[in-house]
Amino acid sequence: MTQELTSPSPAPQAPAPHRGPGWWRDAVIYQVYVRSFADSNGDGIGDLRGVCGRLPYLKALGVDAVWLTPFYASPQADGGYDVADYRAVDPLFGSLDDARDLIGAAHDAGLRVIIDIVPNHTSDRHPWFQDPALARERYVFRPGKGERGELPPNDWESIFGGPAWTRTDRGDWYLHLFAPEQPDLNWDNPDVHAEFAAIMRFWLDLGVDGFRIDVAHGMVKAPGLPDIGHGEQARLVGSQVLPFFDQDGVHAIHRTWRRLLDEYDGERIGVAEAWAPSAERLALYVRPDELHQAFNFHYLRASWDVTELRGVIDESLAAMRPVGAPATWVLSNHDVVRHRTRLGGGLDRARAAALLMLALPGSAYLYQGEELGLPEVTDLPDEARQDPSFFRANGQDGFRDGCRVPLPWSGDLPPYGFGSGGSWLPQPADWAPLTVEAQTGDPGSTLELYRTALDLRRRLPGLGDGEISWQPAPEGLLAFRRPGVLCTVNTLGRAAALPLPGKPLLSSAPVTIDGASAVVPGDSCTWWAI
Ligand code: NOJ
Ligand code: CA
Repeated sequence: MTQELTSPSPAPQAPAPHRGPGWWRDAVIYQVYVRSFADSNGDGIGDLRGVCGRLPYLKALGVDAVWLTPFYASPQADGGYDVADYRAVDPLFGSLDDARDLIGAAHDAGLRVIIDIVPNHTSDRHPWFQDPALARERYVFRPGKGERGELPPNDWESIFGGPAWTRTDRGDWYLHLFAPEQPDLNWDNPDVHAEFAAIMRFWLDLGVDGFRIDVAHGMVKAPGLPDIGHGEQARLVGSQVLPFFDQDGVHAIHRTWRRLLDEYDGERIGVAEAWAPSAERLALYVRPDELHQAFNFHYLRASWDVTELRGVIDESLAAMRPVGAPATWVLSNHDVVRHRTRLGGGLDRARAAALLMLALPGSAYLYQGEELGLPEVTDLPDEARQDPSFFRANGQDGFRDGCRVPLPWSGDLPPYGFGSGGSWLPQPADWAPLTVEAQTGDPGSTLELYRTALDLRRRLPGLGDGEISWQPAPEGLLAFRRPGVLCTVNTLGRAAALPLPGKPLLSSAPVTIDGASAVVPGDSCTWWAI
């Protein structure tokens, strides 16, 4: 008899088990890009009260923690990654009381809260940078080259395009690895260390459960700030240690932060946003006396190909094993093209990729909207764009507004329940079927697929942390065992037959069972009970 499994199977009803020590080792952490999540006051910009109002949604989705992108006081030259006051909430996003309320309400709902901290640079409006005497000590100033100092001190380029140096009215130059409004701090100065320790204590005292550390690989620069070589930076970035990224000296800073985190109860964590040239170098950030997790951008960069996927999964697990840290997995965030679009296979492939990720051992990061299957918005008008990298790269590449379009919650027309006053980036006219409202309760929806997967992940003992064991699979397919589950992935654009692996638990697309064999659709992932 042929039997078809509709996707997903209904969620079991019993309460989820309590999560004990080491909560972060297999946690599913949901990234809230505050500006685009939910707007409580109708100004078109998401805010902390908006997040607070949607906590029941996050709880029902089944995540363990939320990571909030920066909501500090900021001129918003880089979406808040240009901080003017690390102890204040920008009025755009609310108040300190709102932050306190949000942390409390999240905890009441059983959700942990991780906030972003930005230690590599501040805003140029930060009081330290505004005071020329202080600035010279606490940022990276150098005299220019050339007869009259008219040339930058070295050949480094900003990640957003153009030189990494800007000349001041006083004639000297300051370093900014990102926008000119984001001067790099001088981490040779003890005042900088002391200030960041105090900022962390401020937020830990307020109850946050940890920090996502922005540019955790960038604070220390090679002595003498050596040139990289004409045209070399673009070629080497991502594959080599550059004089401004992944210098060994950053690890001493992470060790002090780990000691600080450990002074607090409740397992507060540090997560490195570190772009390291290899999985082995990334593992250095999560040695037992350093941070708890590091984003696995190697995984994010893998294409939808069995050899590449298996390779990066094996490398990631192998690199983490000796340091005892869990691997992490991420498909989308606010800096990259959404994976539904990036992987090139539409919604089917995005759903399959999500189920694959959620079957891997370790901790997974979800980016708001991926659970709705949102695509990248690729046709934003230039006048709507706000990403500084768009302007500095002359619109050629690197722009990130298309993954930051506000979420669709309900209704048929923009702003789809995001707020009552429009949205800071225009939402597509055809997003009505993608709203939370439209997808809730529809067993074929991507939202229900994520909900069921997260629910199963909590219930199947051992599915979070641990190891995987690869199984033989037909060409173009992956198969691996986890405790109680066998996961199959068909990366091909067509259906494939396999010997029936077990009872289907959950599938990103309907599978067909005929006696002792199963047919899995193209671009699909299935979890089988074994
Ligand atoms: C990484 C953040 O994710 C990105 O959005 C930001 O532009 C840079 N760091 C600079 O802070
Ligand atoms: Ca608002």
